[in-house]
Amino acid sequence: MAGKILSYKLSSGYEIPMIGLGTYARKADTGQFRQAVEWGIEAGYRHIDTASCYKNEEEVGEAISNKIYQGIVSRQDLFVTTKLWNDSHAEQDVIPALKSSLNRLKLDYVDLYLIHWPVSVNSMGEDMKIDFVETWRGMEAAVKEGLVKSIGVSNFNEEQLTRLLQNAIIKPVVNQFEINPTLTQHKLVDFCKKRSIMPVAYTPLGLISEARPEFIGKDAIKTDPKLGEIAKKYKKTRAQIALRYLIQRGVAVLPKSFTKSRIEENLNIFDFELSEQEMAIVDSYNIDHRCVPGTAFCRHNNYPF
Ligand SMILES: NC(=O)c1ccc[n+]([C@@H]2O[C@H](COP(=O)([O-])OP(=O)(O)OC[C@H]3O[C@@H](n4cnc5c(N)ncnc54)[C@H](OP(=O)(O)O)[C@@H]3O)[C@@H](O)[C@H]2O)c1
Repeated sequence: MAGKILSYKLSSGYEIPMIGLGTYARKADTGQFRQAVEWGIEAGYRHIDTASCYKNEEEVGEAISNKIYQGIVSRQDLFVTTKLWNDSHAEQDVIPALKSSLNRLKLDYVDLYLIHWPVSVNSMGEDMKIDFVETWRGMEAAVKEGLVKSIGVSNFNEEQLTRLLQNAIIKPVVNQFEINPTLTQHKLVDFCKKRSIMPVAYTPLGLISEARPEFIGKDAIKTDPKLGEIAKKYKKTRAQIALRYLIQRGVAVLPKSFTKSRIEENLNIFDFELSEQEMAIVDSYNIDHRCVPGTAFCRHNNYPF
């Protein structure tokens, strides 16, 4: 791996590596998550992003235990994030949900625990209309119990963050939301930074991903020859340019891959720097397109988009 991985000091005082390995997949073979995380740790990733709803915490935990057992990393070297699902938003449900995640991950704490969405559902998927400020009390209790170092949110909009900040005793350190060259999110990124909330980009490859062929034609990021020239100049791929663009904006990135060579490729973004002009070219690919619109919750209270 070329270039040292940058990290950022969160408002809680803990450091978050600017790149983490994403682990969400709609479909996976048995062992594929474990294998990807093992390759990731071997390649140098020290930040892993999972969630209880990804149904992969056991495999992610196995990979972590294996790499610790083999002496490749120690627990303190790793920054592990998991997320509270929408069906456990009642204050008294937060710690039990986190304990179940820890049990599956075979860890006694996580570095970061996020409220996955501001919406709440019951086991039937119906809207529970639980106020996320109530959920936050449970998150704060989890910090006090030593089960998590830092707490934050995901998919929160400006208004929701404002309300949370007004009511929080422990401030959220992160908002994880979709950011990529076709969804640049300047307004929300600036809003977060001004309030010491670290913006973390999910789906950072956006329309570069082959997983999204339905958007062919809208994806200048994939086809524009100017980006090809930039990539050639630095001997990088389009994906690496997209990730580097986010890092240079002060946004942490969570690319997911099951492919060993891509897991390695995505990490190799710390040995070059895009010029202001090149940053502007990547920025021009914005079409405000969401890969993850969360449509299942679009009629729910607190749907953020
Ligand atoms: N908080 C939330 O609500 C939320 C929502 C979505 C995602 N996330 C998190 O963010 C992570 C990343 O998001 P994502 O998985 O949706 O999207 P992504 O990381 O932007 O894209 C993943 C896709 O890109 C492909 N890919 C990876 N590296 C590549 C490269 N160098 N060149 C070309 N294609 C490449 C992968 O294929 P292969 O695997 O086949 O290599 C996969 O199909 C998730 O895994 C999850 O941890 C969070």
